[in-house]
Amino acid sequence: MDKKPTVVLVTGCSDGGIGSGVAKEFAKRGAKVYATSRRLDAMSELESVQNVERLVLDITNRQSVAVVIEKIFALEGKIDYCISNAGSGPAPGPVIELDEQAMRDCFETNVWGTIHVVRSFSTHHALNNNKSSKLLIFGSFSSHFTLPFSVPYSASKYALRSFAHGLRAELWPLGIETTLVEFGRVHTQFQRKLLGGFWPWWDANGGRKSFYEPLRQQIVDSIDPKEAPGIDDLAPFCADLVSRVWPPERHLPRDLWLGSSAIAVWIFGWFPGWTVDWMTRKAFGLQGRIEYKP
Ligand SMILES: NC(=O)c1ccc[n+]([C@@H]2O[C@H](COP(=O)([O-])OP(=O)(O)OC[C@H]3O[C@@H](n4cnc5c(N)ncnc54)[C@H](OP(=O)(O)O)[C@@H]3O)[C@@H](O)[C@H]2O)c1
Repeated sequence: MDKKPTVVLVTGCSDGGIGSGVAKEFAKRGAKVYATSRRLDAMSELESVQNVERLVLDITNRQSVAVVIEKIFALEGKIDYCISNAGSGPAPGPVIELDEQAMRDCFETNVWGTIHVVRSFSTHHALNNNKSSKLLIFGSFSSHFTLPFSVPYSASKYALRSFAHGLRAELWPLGIETTLVEFGRVHTQFQRKLLGGFWPWWDANGGRKSFYEPLRQQIVDSIDPKEAPGIDDLAPFCADLVSRVWPPERHLPRDLWLGSSAIAVWIFGWFPGWTVDWMTRKAFGLQGRIEYKP
């Protein structure tokens, strides 16, 4: 029997986020946790937490990912849980007017960054002939119904859902069990960053006022973080998440749905497309035509 402590890698562990909360929960259970983020000083909450080591890791940088994962395998010989939590999204805005680079960055982090982590982790797991490990990929309910003005983020999580499901089959014979963890709104920095600002109501490429200017108030009200229900208390949320994947011998489902709206989202997924269209347009005031007035 493997007497070594359970080894956990978590990406995106900045203060006040889900990654940091999850890292603390695994550490409480006696696991050796490698908590990573782009900056060491962004993980001050974890500085003095027992069983947690902080490392700098930018998931969009393949080299940075390789160095960190190689280091953990050299020290521990295994990673029992690889938690792909890091993610980001552009400020809300319409696809035709959002900054193209911001949209690319979102895919670069959420999709390509995750792929870098998965490939490096899985390769080392196989090279070390490790028996069984868990790969948890953090998706989002928004991959099940894309809200207008958050399209790139939802689309990146939709892509991630497909990757996670495919990887569940591909990585199984290597002894890696892949689970997509999906949840709705949790009030973290992420929500504040994502919902706290909007694109500049100006099309930088076209050099003109936004087509959506007449709907400004409606759009702001529909996305306003003050109005958005979500989970406020991060610690119990993270404790619940980890309790569902612990201990390491436990078999995990293909999808793990968390949060109070999980059932509602699941049911919503069965609604006919036209009802979803109708509700979405109504919520965002997108029913009528916009007359462009320069
Ligand atoms: N909060 C929600 O409502 C919600 C809902 C569904 C799914 N999720 C998902 O849950 C995960 C965690 O989100 P959160 O709410 O905890 O947000 P958060 O506090 O903003 O955490 C995101 C983490 O990802 C890191 N990150 C971003 N780009 C990175 C990169 N290139 N390399 C390494 N780390 C990077 C951030 O680092 P910096 O501090 O350096 O930016 C931060 O540590 C994300 O995947 C998010 O999509 C969140």
